[in-house]
Amino acid sequence: MNTNTPNRLTIRRPDDWHLHFRDGDIMRGVVPYTARQFGRAIVMPNLSPPVTIAAMAAEYRDRILAAVPAGVDFTPLMTCYLTDATDPDDLARGAAQGIFTAAKLYPANATTNSAHGVSDVAKLAPVLARMEAEGIVLCIHGEVTDNDIDVFDREAEFIARHLRGIIADFPNLKVVFEHITTADAVEFVQNCGPNVAATITPQHLHINRNAMLVGGIQPHNYCLPVAKRETHRLALRAAATSGSPKFFLGTDSAPHLRKVKETSCGCAGIFNAPFALESYLAVFEEEGALEHFEGFASLHGPAFYGLPVNADSITLERAEVPVPDSLELTGEDIVPWHAGQTLGWRIAD
Ligand code: NCD
Ligand code: ZN
Repeated sequence: MNTNTPNRLTIRRPDDWHLHFRDGDIMRGVVPYTARQFGRAIVMPNLSPPVTIAAMAAEYRDRILAAVPAGVDFTPLMTCYLTDATDPDDLARGAAQGIFTAAKLYPANATTNSAHGVSDVAKLAPVLARMEAEGIVLCIHGEVTDNDIDVFDREAEFIARHLRGIIADFPNLKVVFEHITTADAVEFVQNCGPNVAATITPQHLHINRNAMLVGGIQPHNYCLPVAKRETHRLALRAAATSGSPKFFLGTDSAPHLRKVKETSCGCAGIFNAPFALESYLAVFEEEGALEHFEGFASLHGPAFYGLPVNADSITLERAEVPVPDSLELTGEDIVPWHAGQTLGWRIAD
């Protein structure tokens, strides 16, 4: 847009194509952070119990909408948690009724609340065939869960063991390879047709695995898939800022209270919703790619999902923004992404 100056950037309102809101009081506490920035968000279904049928998704959507601050225009886009027992008819009906925007494949036990996930991808064939026929997007947590596979290799191994096969068997299925963390995933997505895309989180653009493991264990830099070595981070930054329509914004904001992160068996997940856009923008600025920010944040996602772009815009302005060491959520502490750091942009009023 031509109103931009070196200190102000106006873009079409962005969307978040992957995040976790949770439910209850936590959900009511975190929804406003996202609704402040984004027009829509793809809401993950890994509640306990998971959101497996359209009726549950419709009720969950209503609870989220009730948490959106008055006067704010925000639309949650719901997903169906695929299991070994998913009913293709319920999924297709839910999509036709506008309840489901996508379905989510968690390999069983890959991450938080995924115990009900798919135990054998081959069993999902009837569901995937139906999704391909109906044009329902498949969002994939792409990591194998086999104990013999090193945690740093689980994404690359998922491509070899499962993703290539899914894409070969269902060539017209729309697939989002979510929160990619490796150069292998970047290359794979680039070499697929236009019906395969990927989301990238802010944390995987900012940190490599040293940030998690050097100088003491850093639980607030731990999420799944785990951050990988520096070569992978650089490949992700190149992909995100390249202007390619195959890569778009998905924060994977995953709120966990401080007490369940800072413990002997800490939860995976980074709570990045409070300063998500500012975090991404820092990366685009460092890469000298501000002209590609709007595509990544606001245009490529809707184009992939076949949805209109948001009608309004958002302006970011240069300012020193100190990120608090912690925030309060349900009367408890939660540590936001970039805690204690200063960011260089803020959302203008
Ligand atoms: C997510 C969560 O906490 O729900 N955690 C994470 O580390 N990203 C689950 C997920 O998306 O893997
Ligand atoms: Zn996630």
